[in-house]
Amino acid sequence: MAEVVLSVRNLSVSFNTPDGVVHAVNDVSFDLQAGETLGIVGESGSGKSVTAGSLMRLNNSVTATTTGNVVVNGVDVLNCTEDEVRGIRGQDIAMVFQDPLSALNPYYSVGAQIAEAYQVHHADASKDEVEQVVIDMLTKVGIPHPETRLHQYPHQFSGGMRQRIVIAIALVNKPKVLIADEPTTALDVTVQAQILDLMMDLQRETNMAIILITHDLGVVAEVARDVLVMYGGRVVEKASINDLFVAPTHPYSWGLLGAVSSLEDLQRGHLKTIAGTPPSLISIPSGCAFHPRCEFYEGVGSRCSSEVPELRTISSGQSMSACHLDDVQIVSIGKSKVLQ
Ligand SMILES: Nc1ncnc2c1ncn2[C@@H]1O[C@H](COP(=O)(O)OP(=O)(O)O)[C@@H](O)[C@H]1O
Ligand SMILES: [Mg+2]
Repeated sequence: MAEVVLSVRNLSVSFNTPDGVVHAVNDVSFDLQAGETLGIVGESGSGKSVTAGSLMRLNNSVTATTTGNVVVNGVDVLNCTEDEVRGIRGQDIAMVFQDPLSALNPYYSVGAQIAEAYQVHHADASKDEVEQVVIDMLTKVGIPHPETRLHQYPHQFSGGMRQRIVIAIALVNKPKVLIADEPTTALDVTVQAQILDLMMDLQRETNMAIILITHDLGVVAEVARDVLVMYGGRVVEKASINDLFVAPTHPYSWGLLGAVSSLEDLQRGHLKTIAGTPPSLISIPSGCAFHPRCEFYEGVGSRCSSEVPELRTISSGQSMSACHLDDVQIVSIGKSKVLQ
């Protein structure tokens, strides 16, 4: 059994807003093992980024309420001191965001920004050592002529190169867990593929675990081993990539996959939309949040609208699903719904 590097239990996050309480993440639990790549997919607004931010305790504004446990390297990130969480960020768990430009400071050279990230956890490192680390990282992420380019500023790099630099900053302390929140969404398709390849190569080198957040099923299919499907701030399906594509177990996943009209579309990340609109996280539908859009909704007064379905293992295999349908129905409908 591989080492569990991240353990999330009953994570819930809400925000107090003038319009009401936003229940952004609701009772999310999962484990991540060293070397594993876990995909998190779901429509925009399903709670993916808030989940990711909580893993590094970044949602700590006065309006946020976070409950549950997030254990990284034996430390409960949500319940430890500020000093402890600073020790963990960057060192044990690091993050790459969607937009490389806003993640970089325009006023500092890229070398200075990589150096700073290293020095946070290596305060005693000599100048020469730090410079060598910066050059090594730039080389690793595929920036040519690192000795000269380290002195340049973010605007002197292309979008793809900037994302490579952001990855260098995230990985400079060899974290056990890398969270990548839509890391390639802002990039064009060929550059997207190069960045994903780079992340996978670096993963093999250090056996780090990766959480890859995306709304693009094609990206997930390419790189992840397991996937969490989120809807209305909850995990509604947890499956291996293979099971998700061959025998999905939740009506929302059936919709997501059915919304892919061909394998080619899937590879291009083109999805048709599912009928209906995503739920407001201020007034999440009662029972199963997906029931207003679900073709298997059992009607007014049924369990679909009165009970939140538990995420449970479906008897046919390893997948977990949060749906009231019984296992036999789930398995047979799931198989009939996948791409032919
Ligand atoms: N700081 C915040 N204050 C209030 N609401 C927020 C805040 N951050 C996120 N939300 C809300 O939480 C929900 C989930 O957002 P998010 O996790 O960003 O979704 P996504 O799945 O697209 O990444 C959204 O309704 C969003 O508006
Ligand atoms: Mg997001």
